[in-house]
Amino acid sequence: MLSSVIMTKINDHYLKLRAGYLFPEIARRTSQYKAAHPDADIIRLGIGDVTRALTPSVLAAFHRGVDDMAKEETFRGYGPEQGYPFLLEKIASQDFKSRGAHVEPDEIFVSDGSKCDTGNIIEIFGEGNVIAVQDPVYPVYVDTNVMAGRTGGCGEAGYYAGLRYLRCTAETDFTAEPPSDKLDLIYLCSPNNPTGAVMPRPLLEKWVAYARKNQSIILFDAAYEAYISDPSIPHSIYEIEGARECAIEFRSFSKNAGFTGVRCAYTVVPKTLHGCDANGISVGINQLWNRRHCTKFNGVSYPVQRAAEAVYSEEGRREVRELIAYYMNNARVIRAGLESAGLKVFGGVNAPYIWLKTPAGIDSWSFFDKFLQEVQVVGTPGSGFGPAGEGYFRLSAFGSADRVKEAIERIKTNLTI
Ligand code: MLT
Repeated sequence: MLSSVIMTKINDHYLKLRAGYLFPEIARRTSQYKAAHPDADIIRLGIGDVTRALTPSVLAAFHRGVDDMAKEETFRGYGPEQGYPFLLEKIASQDFKSRGAHVEPDEIFVSDGSKCDTGNIIEIFGEGNVIAVQDPVYPVYVDTNVMAGRTGGCGEAGYYAGLRYLRCTAETDFTAEPPSDKLDLIYLCSPNNPTGAVMPRPLLEKWVAYARKNQSIILFDAAYEAYISDPSIPHSIYEIEGARECAIEFRSFSKNAGFTGVRCAYTVVPKTLHGCDANGISVGINQLWNRRHCTKFNGVSYPVQRAAEAVYSEEGRREVRELIAYYMNNARVIRAGLESAGLKVFGGVNAPYIWLKTPAGIDSWSFFDKFLQEVQVVGTPGSGFGPAGEGYFRLSAFGSADRVKEAIERIKTNLTI
């Protein structure tokens, strides 16, 4: 019997996407290996997911928030979509004012994640913009542009037509300089996922000057800013003069306070940032994002925002510093171990990702398989982050210290190079 064909049209742009999203594909290959080797003790240093429990002061505030919901006097229903003032004020003063950057509470939009925000932001921008991403790149920026129909198809080499790729190589310390022609929207990520590179202040200044001259907008992903140890590196793009006129910034509680399973982040859209409509009339971007946010999002839950607020208490700040130190110690162990195994490594100093060059003649996915087979450690193939990531491999420093140590012992003993 012939099955009838439903004629409802799908979004064809989804059909342009290459394979699955990177991390589910890694999970699939890992499960396949596990099924064939049930006794294998697999160490997962692939996805950048935290492993330490929530800290005591965050947890206590979270509990108090839940208790507030149990009494009618303190119960909260829908909150402000943008976030509660108690959290917005802490963010404005401690994440920005304390660093000499100016951000107003009503320029902050609390959300459930930077992945969602960096993925959704494209909605408020029109067709026909020249959009640039770094290569290698966090795949969400690319895939969401494909889904929104802002690119053509994917070519043999892995580049989507119509998207501009700013190639970041070892020769440029995995950073990109502004080009000589005009881009409209530029995604920059520092500290960088996946390469672990950071943008020095002079380079960020160049980008801000470029964006102002060309009337472009920078989408600055600073989800890993807490990992910066070099005091000369900016944590926020708003530390650079003029950035309020040309940049949106994304921040997250996932990687500093371990909120990957709790979900809380925020996006800053200054009221001084403008784009233009089809008639060339200037329009405030803050009002557009506010409109989108209020229409499609009902705010992060009250207990979660109370937990996020606790990150800014004196105790909370100390606990976050300890978490970062813990993961950065892992990064040091991984870097040193890989180097002593004869591998060339990058990153892992101001970022929780270690980016290693695969041995000559071994591509990223072959190295993934070799790694899994020889040392039972899961990493992330660099080519999953774009064509310039081919020949590289990423390890995350977010594992537990014991497992990281064990992984490095295995690498030193069993990995053949
Ligand atoms: C990664 O491993 O790249 C992270 O999980 C990215 C993310 O936070 O979505």
